[in-house]
Amino acid sequence: MRSTQKKAGKDEKKEKVQLPDAAAIFQKRLKKHHDELKWLYTELYGNDSMFAELCDNMWQFYQERNDTLRALDEKREAQPDWYKKNDMLGMMFYIDNFAGNMKGVESRLDYIEQCNVNYIHLMPFLDTPEGRSDGGYAVSDFRKVQEKLGTMEDLESLTAACHKKGINVCMDFVMNHTSEDHEWAKKARGGDGEYMDRYFFFDNSYIPSLYEKTVPQVFPTTAPGNFTWLPDAGHFVMTTFYPYQWDLNYKNPRVFNEMMYNFLYLANRGIDIIRIDAVPYIWKELNTSCRNLLQVHTIVRMMRMISEIVCPGILLLGEVVMEPEKVVPYFGTVEKPECHMLYNVTTMATTWHTVATRDVGLLKKQLDIVNSLPKDYVFLNYLRCHDDIGWGLDYATLQQEGIRERDHKKYLNDYFQGYDGDSNSRGELYNADPVTGDARFCGTTASMCGIEKAGFEQNAEAMERAIRFDVMLHAYMFMQSGIPVLYSGDEIGQVNDYTYKENPLKAADSRYIHRGAMNWELAKNIADPRTVEGKLFTALDRLEKLRKQEKVFVSNADTWTIETWDSSVLCIGRYFEGEKILGLFNFSEFDKTAWINETDGEYVELISGERMQASGVNIPAYGFYYLKKC
Ligand code: GLC
Repeated sequence: MRSTQKKAGKDEKKEKVQLPDAAAIFQKRLKKHHDELKWLYTELYGNDSMFAELCDNMWQFYQERNDTLRALDEKREAQPDWYKKNDMLGMMFYIDNFAGNMKGVESRLDYIEQCNVNYIHLMPFLDTPEGRSDGGYAVSDFRKVQEKLGTMEDLESLTAACHKKGINVCMDFVMNHTSEDHEWAKKARGGDGEYMDRYFFFDNSYIPSLYEKTVPQVFPTTAPGNFTWLPDAGHFVMTTFYPYQWDLNYKNPRVFNEMMYNFLYLANRGIDIIRIDAVPYIWKELNTSCRNLLQVHTIVRMMRMISEIVCPGILLLGEVVMEPEKVVPYFGTVEKPECHMLYNVTTMATTWHTVATRDVGLLKKQLDIVNSLPKDYVFLNYLRCHDDIGWGLDYATLQQEGIRERDHKKYLNDYFQGYDGDSNSRGELYNADPVTGDARFCGTTASMCGIEKAGFEQNAEAMERAIRFDVMLHAYMFMQSGIPVLYSGDEIGQVNDYTYKENPLKAADSRYIHRGAMNWELAKNIADPRTVEGKLFTALDRLEKLRKQEKVFVSNADTWTIETWDSSVLCIGRYFEGEKILGLFNFSEFDKTAWINETDGEYVELISGERMQASGVNIPAYGFYYLKKC
């Protein structure tokens, strides 16, 4: 039997009293989902004994789950909307960049609280080979923390410390692939058939070449193709991402079961939010794009049920970086939910399109699409993350204005590299594909807003403008429904970090430009209003507190956009239980007037406290207003 992590003495006695209850709770949850789970499992695998094994293991992992986590599960089960309020604010960071190691993060929790953050996404921290890690997304051991970052005990200590402060912890579950250094991969490479069956192995190029006809490339420049030839093994292996990331074969029930055990093992370390990495890719079929296949949804639905049986306090966050019609199905349905949360990726990309064009038309349309979705859906809103910004925009709409996809992508990439006369942005391309002409973009929020350029040119006026712009973008993000997530360092306006170029292990991957280490020297300035850090931090602090105070920011408030009759000014309205707020955002470098005409009385601007009418509102360049109905 597995360790139950109980202390001796008093707790043991407690366990004896609790066990029958615990068994009853487990049985109740299992009963609720058993038939559907079995149905789906049988549909994919038709294997009763493997299903029985899965059920046995769920029970084991449930027993292993500590009392504190079980109590949290029950609390959250009783309030299933616990994450849909307006009090959630996330921050993501690499542990080493933020604070050296796990213990370092634990010692920085006060700073995290000071940032009003109650949800931290710890970027991949599991064992991964140095130099072949893809930022940790190539896992060689799902049950071991990278030595330089700490141990599993440190993780448990960190999650427990976070829970004491009401901070939720998110981690990645990289389930599409393992590192080539994972023990399964090593055995497969050595010719062990059982392990070869856990991946996609081919002894000649015929089948791989058929796949290549229909499967697009993720990293066309840094890792072209979807297969890698292994000369020592005399086989090709499927590698959708980097050659050292071997795709797992989920047609094999052993793979599914073992990965679910890893998932539950990690959940039991005190993780609150599991980010399912690259989820659209996990099922492969010949003659398809190997993206978003129906079986992917079956697997995610099973994961949801498995977590509701063993650890219902956790949330599933799906990483689906695709167009809206591909993203939304990952919420599942009301009766058969899949992910709790998804990234608002098209809105993020459209935001930057708006920054470059100063035209809010497409963004308004995109927000209208999101706002028309069921209010139960929770989106994770962000200005940027650890990955590149891909220009996945609604080109059908842009086409109507004569804007062509290829030209527009080039325009955006030129703009954000700072090549356009009107641009103050700095950053670099990512995976520029000479064949398709496609490229994505990398840079920190501050650099893309002009803070880097203004600092370099020592231009105080330009700096003021860049800070105002950066704050406005955050204010706009906070106005959206869902959970806002900051990238660590953005709260003090950290700019691009070019040192990655000196590191041969990172130089080829420009995403490292926006993954720089937290600059704690600069962070000392957060209380000094004369500094960039102080100005930005104080302004964001104000907004974050407002967002938590005003109930109109709850995730399921009515949200809509309002025509302002100025192409650079966006207006978002929110309404909840008698309270109404209008957010006005000027995306241009010129002062503007929002020609709105809300005739329902007086409003108060929440930042300045000024009372005004919500009609014909003058907004300064890159400014914003939060107008609350009195
Ligand atoms: C996700 C991660 C990305 C990584 C990829 C492969 O998209 O966000 O950083 O390269 O998965 O695991």
